[in-house]
Amino acid sequence: MEPTTGNVDADLIEAAITVRTRAIITLHLYGQMCDMRTIKRIADQYSLAVIEDSAHCAEGDIDGIRPGQLRNAACFSFLATKNITSGEGGAIATNGGKLASRL
Ligand SMILES: Cc1ncc(COP(=O)(O)O)c(C=O)c1O
Repeated sequence: MEPTTGNVDADLIEAAITVRTRAIITLHLYGQMCDMRTIKRIADQYSLAVIEDSAHCAEGDIDGIRPGQLRNAACFSFLATKNITSGEGGAIATNGGKLASRL
């Protein structure tokens, strides 16, 4: 864990990957994004999907990168306690045409 943000320490992810790993699920905690450049590099290297839990981070960015921009998908919650709400519900943002069609 990064002590200043509470986000995953991206440098510890690689050691947790096994032959059964299919995806990296990140959580951008309290509006601050994870180190997405490092996470993308690891995901590319191991051919893993990346799903960003962006429930806390609808307005987030890191070095100009927004949730869902670098890899597969970012999930947003519209629960009553979130910055953007409809009471319940959510959304998934993706640049992947095939994934978008399936969703
Ligand atoms: C970080 C995070 N991820 C996911 C969720 C779940 O959101 P939902 O209930 O809209 O599926 C929440 C809800 O509190 C959350 O805080």
